[in-house]
Formats: sequence, C-alpha cells, structure tokens
Amino acid sequence: MSSLLIDNIGSLVTNAPDVGQGALGLLEDAALVIEDGLVAWAGPRALVPEGAARERFDAGGRAVIPGFVDSHAHLVFAGDRTSEFEARMSGRAYTAGGIRTTVAATRTATDDELRAGVRRLVGEALRSGTTTIECKSGYGLTVEDEARSLRLAAEQTAEVTYLGAHVVPPEYAGDPDAYVDLVRGAMLDACVPHARWIDVFCERGAFDGDQTRAILTAGKERGLVPRVHAGQLGPGPGVRIAVELGAASADHVTHLSDADVEALASGGTVATLLPGAEFSTRSPYPDARRLLDAGATVALAADCNPGSSYTTNIPFCIALAVRDMNMTPVEALRAATMGGAQALRRTDVGHLAPGARADFVLLDAPSHVHLAYRPGVPLVARVWKDGVPG
Ligand code: NIG
Ligand code: FE
Repeated sequence: MSSLLIDNIGSLVTNAPDVGQGALGLLEDAALVIEDGLVAWAGPRALVPEGAARERFDAGGRAVIPGFVDSHAHLVFAGDRTSEFEARMSGRAYTAGGIRTTVAATRTATDDELRAGVRRLVGEALRSGTTTIECKSGYGLTVEDEARSLRLAAEQTAEVTYLGAHVVPPEYAGDPDAYVDLVRGAMLDACVPHARWIDVFCERGAFDGDQTRAILTAGKERGLVPRVHAGQLGPGPGVRIAVELGAASADHVTHLSDADVEALASGGTVATLLPGAEFSTRSPYPDARRLLDAGATVALAADCNPGSSYTTNIPFCIALAVRDMNMTPVEALRAATMGGAQALRRTDVGHLAPGARADFVLLDAPSHVHLAYRPGVPLVARVWKDGVPG
C-alpha cells in the first residue's frame, strides 16, 4: 500500500462542511493522508492518526485545495482562429458560424494531429490545477469525424460528450432537418459507444428548441445524459428544455428569464458559467448573483475552444467570476471544484473528504483567496492526481 502524508498545510479546502469550517470545509494548520490514490484522512495537524511508514511532503504553510473540475471543454480540433479573435477585438461580433472554420480544419487533420492537440490542452489544464476535464466533440460533424473525435477524447478523459449538434455543417445548409435526423440517427449510433453525455448548442444560428429536444431525447433513449449550451448569445428555450429533460447541466446561461432562473433553482440541473467566453467575445457576463441568490447550483468552467474562449486556465476564470460577476472567492472556488463535480454527477472528485480521489493542488499562497487577489500569477505550485504528483 502506498501512503503519503501532506503535512504543514497552512489552509486546507476540503469542500466537506463536516470536516472543516463553512462551505469550503476549511481547516488551518492541517494535514492530509493519502492511501492508494484516495484521501484516507483530512484534519488538524495535531491529530494525524498513527499509520504505516509514510512518505512525507511538507507544504510549508501554503494552501491546498481540491483539483479543479472543468465540466465544459471542446479540445478535439485542428488549427486556431487568431484572425477571428483579432477582428472581434476590432469590433466584429461573435457568431455561431465561426465554428465551421474549425470544422474544415479538423476534418483534414490526422488522428495523430488531433490526439496531440487534446494531449497538449489536457496537460496545460493539469498544470494549472485541473484534475478532471470534460471534452466534447463538435468539430467533425460527419459520422466518421464525430466518432473519431469522441474516440480520441476518450483516450484522455472519462467525461466525453457527443456534440454532433454544434452547428449545421455547410453540406446540410439547405436542409438542416436532414442533419438533425443524421445527428439522432446514424451519427448517434456511431457515437454512443464512446460517450457518456450528449449536448446541443441551442441558439439562434445553431439549433432551435424542437431540434434540441429531438436530439437530446434520442440520446437519452440510448443511455446518454443531456447537457445543453443554453442562452449564450440570446434568450431561448435551452434552459427550459434542459430542466424538462433532466439535463445534468445548462451551460453559459447568460440570457435568462425569471422562469429559467426558477427552473434551475428548483430542478436538478446545474447552471454552468463560462466567463472565459464573455471575456473573449467582449460580451456581458452572466448574472451569477441572480442564480446563486435564487438557490441554483453553480459550476464554473473554462469552455476551452478555439473560437470563443481559448483558455484552459481555471484560476483566470475564478478571478473573472470574483471581480466581474460578483461571486465571493468562496463561491467561485466552490463552483470550480464541487460545482464542476456536480455538473458531471461525480461524487469522487471536487472535494477532499475521506474516500475522495486524491486530486489536489498546492498553491504558492497562504490562502485560496489569492486565486482572485493575485490574478494572472501562476500560483499553482504542484498538482497531484490520484495521489501521484505531476
Ligand atoms: O461554448 N457555443 C458553442 N460552442 C463554443 C464555441 C465554439 C466555437 O466558437 O468554436 C462555446 O462557446
Ligand atoms: Fe461550449
């Protein structure tokens, strides 16, 4: 049995209110015991249980937090969209149509090129503290290219999402309903073996309410669990459909009616906020306070993709959420860890109570508050995944 003691932790976030103080389950002058890749014990240093010979790591009085759980990412693609970003920063608006540029590049890429891209981004995310990451397809949009995107994603993460309904590809521009039939027919058949989730970009310029419902229902019948891109660019029926179909998460949720907020607060669907997208499209941020004050469960994710948010960096998203979305540092950290886990319906990650996976991050800071207080500073000193240091 491998056993590791993380000792001399100045401030430990467990996200377990029965282990420490408040919503973050905070402990000061703490220690963690890791056994066989899982948290065996978390508590005050003075009370570390006797145990077998352990390796000891001295945290030097710094902060330790759970690894970030990034529940929304689009990592399987080729090329980038630098010039689109540059044009946007000169005043051009973001539209769903830019996705087609990446689809063209992705279709001509080899498996090895796409694999290398996913690996690079998953590694980049890990170095900034993300120990669990979801990954969508959506830049292939043929039966073969969607299935291979999911297959390549599944090589690097268990949280794989079929997003054949990202946008209607050019060859179906004249007959979008035929594309919807493909997405819920032969493409779904080819993708089901590789995916856990099904997603639809429900938005003007992408898929409407009827199309969204038809696709998600077909996915559900095949055992996939829905998640929905809803209300990113304008109001629409996405949240209503997400809650109605028992989706794990409604993502973006920037444009919400009162009924949407109420549905999220009273249903089991997590509201996932993606401030990197508003930052990179120069758009108004979602109203996090409205959701939190209504009682909705909120997750924060990076939405890494080449069009609207080309970042894997969750500390950056936390800083945006605190500074520009009026979330408290506690709410933002909780949303980026436990919230992400809830959006992925995972109970083994996002917290550091005994039995959890030993996925945690040592910060070069005395407290988690520094993630927002010191924006842009690389505070992630070391990352452990399944008890193994990166
Ligand atoms: O989450 N909204 C749809 N999908 C991505 C954008 C994809 C793209 O622009 O390539 C998003 O923002
Ligand atoms: Fe997205």
